[in-house]
Amino acid sequence: MSTPFDITHVRADFPILDQSVKGQPLVYLDNAATAQNPSAVLAATSEYYRTYNSNIHRGTHHLSQVATERYEEARQIVANYLNVTPEETIFTSGTTDSINTVATIIGLSGKITSADTILLSNLEHHSNIVPWQMLAERTGAQIRVIPVLEDGTLDQEIYATLLDESVKLVAFTHVSNAFGTINPVKDMIAKAQAVGALTLLDGAQSAPHGALDLRDLNCDFYAFSGHKVYAPTGIGVLYGRRELLEELPPYKGGGEMIKEVSFEKTTYNDLPFKYEAGTPNIEGAIALASAITYLTQFSKEEVNAHEYKLIQKGAEAVSSIPGATLYGPSDRIASLSFAIDGIHHFDLGTLLDQMGVAVRTGHHCCQPLMSRFNITGTTRASFAFYNTMEDVERFASSLERAVSMLK
Ligand code: ALA
Repeated sequence: MSTPFDITHVRADFPILDQSVKGQPLVYLDNAATAQNPSAVLAATSEYYRTYNSNIHRGTHHLSQVATERYEEARQIVANYLNVTPEETIFTSGTTDSINTVATIIGLSGKITSADTILLSNLEHHSNIVPWQMLAERTGAQIRVIPVLEDGTLDQEIYATLLDESVKLVAFTHVSNAFGTINPVKDMIAKAQAVGALTLLDGAQSAPHGALDLRDLNCDFYAFSGHKVYAPTGIGVLYGRRELLEELPPYKGGGEMIKEVSFEKTTYNDLPFKYEAGTPNIEGAIALASAITYLTQFSKEEVNAHEYKLIQKGAEAVSSIPGATLYGPSDRIASLSFAIDGIHHFDLGTLLDQMGVAVRTGHHCCQPLMSRFNITGTTRASFAFYNTMEDVERFASSLERAVSMLK
């Protein structure tokens, strides 16, 4: 039974939102960069440090046992959220760390050679480009790119033609952080698998929008960050298909990733510990599980319907401004990216900030996407389920005012 979604109650669960910035009530619309933590998550972090802070999987003492149990419970909660097993759920420091881990271990395995191709998309965040470029530099593999159409969606026809036997891995985003485009990932994964390629899904912008079924999507790897899912920074998740994680080598050594160590030979621990060297971010994992528990108390449909109304209203407001260009398709999720003729995004963002409205401006870590549209950046308002219609109205009126001041 889910908790009915009541925006007034939800709002009260996020104390940080109740403050003034530059003399105005804060309107926080930078959720695609970092989302806020509900009181339940802040309490989970505080409870950890107040009552059972200790190292896990090591101590015979009570606090260590409590911390270990809570950490492993957290893994189970995350695994349930993704519909995968705990053995396939690795805690990392974030999406970037997760993707770098996959690129590194695939490189070490020798699965990518100079005869191979890594296929990316033009929608990608730098974190889903650079690790693959580094792997390509090391191996001599080629990188190919799925182009983006004018409406901010991927060119699926070209995608099909780019897939040949040389493609060993396809890495693409589930939802674009810059434009809010939702990719048809299930179909794209199936096509990649038809040529025998591995698939990695960047889930940084899809994980915040409710539980997922990775078994159904059938990707080989999925990466996301805690801080976009209403949890603290410094914690993230890598899902990897069990057979692959078992076969691939670890790359960070030490701590819990070992079974036995001697100077002659070290054997590695079972999954998931094989990929968690060193003391992990224990409180981060526990806080992430607490954020997921908070989020999943509501029906995914209700939460997403609320967010959809906000972004549609936001899009209407932007479209009514003369000289406005909205990027991405109209059924975008969370991120509303736009430009206004003759106004630099940084100036617009700075004026909005003076009015208490927090947005992100610039290239959004997607320089190749900005180049594709011949722009240096956009202004991006990104919404979360705790945003209200009043937030959107404040955004709309502040935008109108800022534009009239800058024109
Ligand atoms: N990837 C984050 C964003 O889109 C930082 O803002």
